[in-house]
Amino acid sequence: MTIHPTWRATTLCLLLLTGFVIPSSAQQSGVESKPAVPDNVAPHSAPTQPLPFSHKQHATLGLQCQACHTNPDPGVLMTFPATAKCVSCHIAAATDTPAIVSLHAYSESKAAIPWVRVYAVTKGVTWNHRAHLESGVQCATCHGDISQADAVSETKATLAMASCIGCHEAQAANTACITCHAWPTDQLLGLE
Ligand code: HEC
Ligand code: HEC
Ligand code: HEC
Ligand code: HEC
Ligand code: HEC
Repeated sequence: MTIHPTWRATTLCLLLLTGFVIPSSAQQSGVESKPAVPDNVAPHSAPTQPLPFSHKQHATLGLQCQACHTNPDPGVLMTFPATAKCVSCHIAAATDTPAIVSLHAYSESKAAIPWVRVYAVTKGVTWNHRAHLESGVQCATCHGDISQADAVSETKATLAMASCIGCHEAQAANTACITCHAWPTDQLLGLE
């Protein structure tokens, strides 16, 4: 008995529809069928920042994210830019608006601009930006399209354990508790 080609094609279509077979083109294109980090369903409003810095306004200048957010050793933090970085443009751009007058005051006082944190992982959880950047995860996957934001708010459910583990499973990264938690060992040894 031979299997009719039309029947074989129909079966393949059914398998594709039901998700049993993943077309190799979809695997290779790197397009995710669903976002690895879900959006936050509840609204999270942006905190009031010391200066009304807008990523959207600055994105039109063609700056790379890492022009302002560097990832120094050991790679945990993306850091905020030095005030001198801002001043390098604002000695010429929009020099006399209240916000830029305030920027120059921070610069002259040598005090760091006290940016209010938006994303902060629960204390004690092991986190590292560099491991993620090196494996090719994009900023937007975890933070949304910041280049379109006038004010950064927590639009993505990045800080939830289910989001971490969901992506680790999808990308075959480590999901053992010890990957992200030092306990119970540290607690048992009295280190915490
Ligand atoms: C590559 C140059 C560049 C850098 C770097 C830069 N800016 Fe700007 N910024 C601009 C330009 C250009 C504008 C638009 C000015 C205008 O509309 O006339 C602007 C606008 C602004 C405004 C709105 C000004 C107003 O009151 O209307 C603020 C606030 C601001 N920048 C803050 C910052 C801060 C804080 C930093 C550092 C984190 C920074 N900028 C870094 C070029 C830059
Ligand atoms: C001109 C400098 C500049 C550039 C370029 C820039 N940022 Fe920022 N970023 C800032 C400053 C200043 C803040 C703090 C104020 C705020 O939250 O808006 C910030 C805050 C953030 C935060 C919130 C951090 C927290 O507190 O949790 C994220 C996420 C972020 N940026 C991502 C990006 C991404 C992604 C890009 C590229 C698309 C980018 N930034 C480009 C200056 C910059
Ligand atoms: C895999 C998810 C993920 C990716 C990818 C990612 N971030 Fe983050 N980001 C986080 C988490 C989680 C935090 C909170 C970390 C903490 O509390 O130390 C954070 C915090 C930040 C902060 C504020 C604290 C700091 O200094 O680290 C900035 C700024 C930031 N991210 C920018 C970026 C930029 C720019 C990129 C791309 C170059 C990026 N992030 C890629 C998850 C991610
Ligand atoms: C969008 C996908 C994605 C998200 C979201 C994500 N991760 Fe990861 N994570 C990865 C990948 C990919 C690696 C690299 C795995 C490798 O190199 O084998 C990694 C590596 C790590 C590592 C280093 C592990 C090692 O073996 O050295 C830690 C720690 C980590 N992630 C913690 C977290 C935490 C905590 C969160 C949530 C706050 C998180 N990750 C969210 C994809 C993700
Ligand atoms: C890929 C990273 C990752 C892995 C793997 C992981 N967790 Fe978590 N876990 C987190 C993050 C992030 C939080 C903080 C969540 C929040 O604040 O909502 C958390 C929070 C928790 C908490 C709440 C109390 C605390 O210590 O913060 C418990 C309990 C917990 N995890 C248990 C586990 C267990 C058990 C495993 C292994 C089966 C595990 N986790 C594996 C990332 C991870």
